[in-house]
Amino acid sequence: MFVAITEDSLVLRNLARAGNVTSAKSFAGLPQIDELPSAVVIDLDIKDALPVAAQVKARWANTLIAGFLSYPNRKLWESAEAAGFDLVTTRGALAAQLNEKLSDWQGRSKQRVRVCDVADLAGRLGVVARLSDLPMGPVAVYHIGGEVFAAQDVCPHAGAQLSQGELSGAIITCPRHGSQFDVRTGERVRGPADLGIETYRVEMDGGQVFVVKDEG
Ligand code: FES
Repeated sequence: MFVAITEDSLVLRNLARAGNVTSAKSFAGLPQIDELPSAVVIDLDIKDALPVAAQVKARWANTLIAGFLSYPNRKLWESAEAAGFDLVTTRGALAAQLNEKLSDWQGRSKQRVRVCDVADLAGRLGVVARLSDLPMGPVAVYHIGGEVFAAQDVCPHAGAQLSQGELSGAIITCPRHGSQFDVRTGERVRGPADLGIETYRVEMDGGQVFVVKDEG
């Protein structure tokens, strides 16, 4: 399902060939949508098109955001890329490029989980999130020294929840038997655990923080 913020009839017709389309003149004008859209298409010539990208990410973090231009405008193109649009293209090339981009995107979005807004990190140090139902198991997200790290939240010794332990710098101490791990690298610092913990890549994108599970 596509959401389109445009009144351009050619664009709406082309999108309708590929799937259901819900459209409106503005983001605020959209009806209630229960389904997760696969893409939101925004006419970059509409008023306030750029801030709409942040509103879309806040509502549907893993949805692809595409912007299209009806007339060449390099400055607007670059501004849209900087504002977090995942695809910027021309009106004529939109349908083909959207299809191509979506085939990669759908695989990727399964591997990315939104944690919070980047702005939410300000003033919050240490454990900023505990994500319990990820495909890879529980993950804790830490904000340390201006950087964000994500690490397995289960102790490999006997399964305690690591993020309930004490964090000193980047070292977490298991609350049950005291094993220690570096949450930046996953390295085991002290036993009784024999193994280190998994760590995951963190991405900042469009003002949002994501934990990413890489393939393999
Ligand atoms: S459960 Fe963590 S050290 Fe034993």
